[in-house]
Amino acid sequence: MKSFPDNFFWGVATSAFQLEGSPNADWATWDPVLLDIPQITNHYALFREDLKLLKDLGVNSYRFSLEWSRIQPRPDTWDEEAIAHYQEIIDILRNYNIEPMVTLHHFTHPRWFLERTPWHRTGSIEKFLRYTEKMVSSLRNVRYWITFNEPYVILIGGYLDGCTPPGLKDVPLSLAALQNIFTCHGKAYDIIHQYVPDAQVSVAHNMSVFAPWKKWNPLDRLLKKAANFFYNHSIINAFQTGIFVVKFPFSRPVEIEVPIKGKLDFFGVNYYTRIHLRFNPFKKMGVELRYLDIEGHGLTNIGWEVHPRGLAKVLWYASRLNLPLIITENGIASHDTEQKVKYMKQHVDVVERCLKEGLDVRGYFYWTLIDNYEWLQGLDVRFGLYRVDFKTFKRHPTSAATYYAYLIQSRSKM
Ligand code: BGC
Repeated sequence: MKSFPDNFFWGVATSAFQLEGSPNADWATWDPVLLDIPQITNHYALFREDLKLLKDLGVNSYRFSLEWSRIQPRPDTWDEEAIAHYQEIIDILRNYNIEPMVTLHHFTHPRWFLERTPWHRTGSIEKFLRYTEKMVSSLRNVRYWITFNEPYVILIGGYLDGCTPPGLKDVPLSLAALQNIFTCHGKAYDIIHQYVPDAQVSVAHNMSVFAPWKKWNPLDRLLKKAANFFYNHSIINAFQTGIFVVKFPFSRPVEIEVPIKGKLDFFGVNYYTRIHLRFNPFKKMGVELRYLDIEGHGLTNIGWEVHPRGLAKVLWYASRLNLPLIITENGIASHDTEQKVKYMKQHVDVVERCLKEGLDVRGYFYWTLIDNYEWLQGLDVRFGLYRVDFKTFKRHPTSAATYYAYLIQSRSKM
């Protein structure tokens, strides 16, 4: 019997801002690197050429995002040309027989949104839902929708660590933002289904494997347990019950009600690495994390541990939802294409094993198509199957692209 079903999604994933920037986005002025190269890879102009690369790879699906700040540059303005631009992407994909998967929110916001109604204010809900309805009623031929990319990463970066917009470090505000973001997901789920009755809707949730820094240390083990519960499991529970339970070690759990019970048609999993944790009162939020090359698979250019087995672990966690699972992102930052090839093979092998063991995995999206802007690392880390020269905007195939094309072809037959 074939391990990979015929309709398995072999794809790549991208996000709009990381490829094309946007003058009206919060990030455009947040990171000084972007002042010199606001158009990043110039994908907004070169998108037809880039979509052709998808055809060359032989993928049958493509996950990309809409840049909200291009579509609604001011609260009272919809840019119909920008909407037509994203429709053209969808039309080209359909023409190539590639299934589009559209992400409504992938980290960036229109600047006015963050200034007026950031996520911790209830006004954010109405703003996001207006944008959702506008997009769902305007775009044709999209069945797969991701409402939010990595909602927890938005909250940790923007509200706890402060390293991403709006740059806050405030636990009560982070909980208010969590409630509003997931309220948006629940309501957006209904809006999408109203316009596209056979829609398939999810979030793309970042899942990681956690381990204690020192196995023998009970405090490290406690921290690992707390992190695993919060990061991997609390969202699954919330989709089952409509209640988020946020438990910090040594404090009473907080329960937050959100209208998301059952509001999922599949579950999108983004998986990259394993994280070792320990308590350290001198570190932000009392937690210190590091990545160790314990099993000899190496570290990536960002320093993350390559830990293929972890993908199976998080997929099994996610299977508690009893829904189809799609790996909406998995990839490696590396200048070494051999390392990239190895990473891809090892992770796809894990997916294959999971399928044999009975997990309902419906797709694998490699992150990412061409080198892009990486949120905290700028332009120096290379996730792409194609290399980008950021001075000339030329794209160059790498052996990782050739290998992914081969992988798709050979595994589709197996
Ligand atoms: C995000 C991407 C990011 C990738 C690598 C994911 O968490 O969705 O935007 O580039 O990880 O860090």
